Amino acid sequence: MSEPIPHDLAVALEATAARRGDFGRTAHYYSEIGSTNDAAARLAEAGAREGTIVVAAAQTAGRGRLGRDWFSPPEAGLYVSIVCRDRRAAPYLTLAGGVAVAEGIRAATALPVEIKWPNDIVTRAPGPSRRRKIAGILAEATSGSDGLQHVVLGFGINLRPVPYPAAIADRASSLEGELGRPVDAGSVLAATLVSFSQHMARLSRGESESVLTKWRELAPSAMGSKVEYEGPSGRQAGITAGIADDGALLIRIGEHVHRVIAGELVWR
Ligand code: BTN
Repeated sequence: MSEPIPHDLAVALEATAARRGDFGRTAHYYSEIGSTNDAAARLAEAGAREGTIVVAAAQTAGRGRLGRDWFSPPEAGLYVSIVCRDRRAAPYLTLAGGVAVAEGIRAATALPVEIKWPNDIVTRAPGPSRRRKIAGILAEATSGSDGLQHVVLGFGINLRPVPYPAAIADRASSLEGELGRPVDAGSVLAATLVSFSQHMARLSRGESESVLTKWRELAPSAMGSKVEYEGPSGRQAGITAGIADDGALLIRIGEHVHRVIAGELVWR
């Protein structure tokens, strides 16, 4: 059973209702849940409309990319999943989610976060390897016999500093940790949904170029940064050369440009 949405979130959602379209029109709130992505997928299976959101204040089984856990203790972050059904938008959902979270954080807090490929939301710093992760995005698609059924777009935003597990302690940060002042979770959620709604409207009209352009603007490290990646001939050093229209990272190694679609990079 979902719970009444806390006052601060309700106020922020109400104030932005006219700019969010269907996104967040129906909201299910939990003070603690396993994974908001799982809850949103169950709602989608049961017929939930596009834009239905699941919000939790803590997760006991939060999931990150590459099968990792997503650290989601109480009092630390905002954990949100959105039911998406638009098939035209589907190929660009991860990129749109990254842009929306970055724009939402910027609009609500003025912290100039950036995107680091594939879709980490990070602090701005002199070199990509020094950037700390503030938020992450995980899109999970479900298909049936007639193709894509729905995509759940989940994002986790670190709001407050807490003792992070050793494995991420030197790479993670939070909005309040960076800003040194309290942050209104409702404003961050509402601003992210406003941005996501606007990008989804463009994607559903077939205007993917605007999302790609915005993503490229927000991800300066995707161009001209030194990286190492595991290619067919072992670990190779290269320079990032932008993203392709399908979101693949381009890496220049000597004369050749390689496409990287998944996996981890070492940023130098
Ligand atoms: C990443 O590895 O960077 C992606 C992290 C995604 C975490 C969010 S929190 C809300 C939603 N529910 C989950 O279980 N995962 C996503």
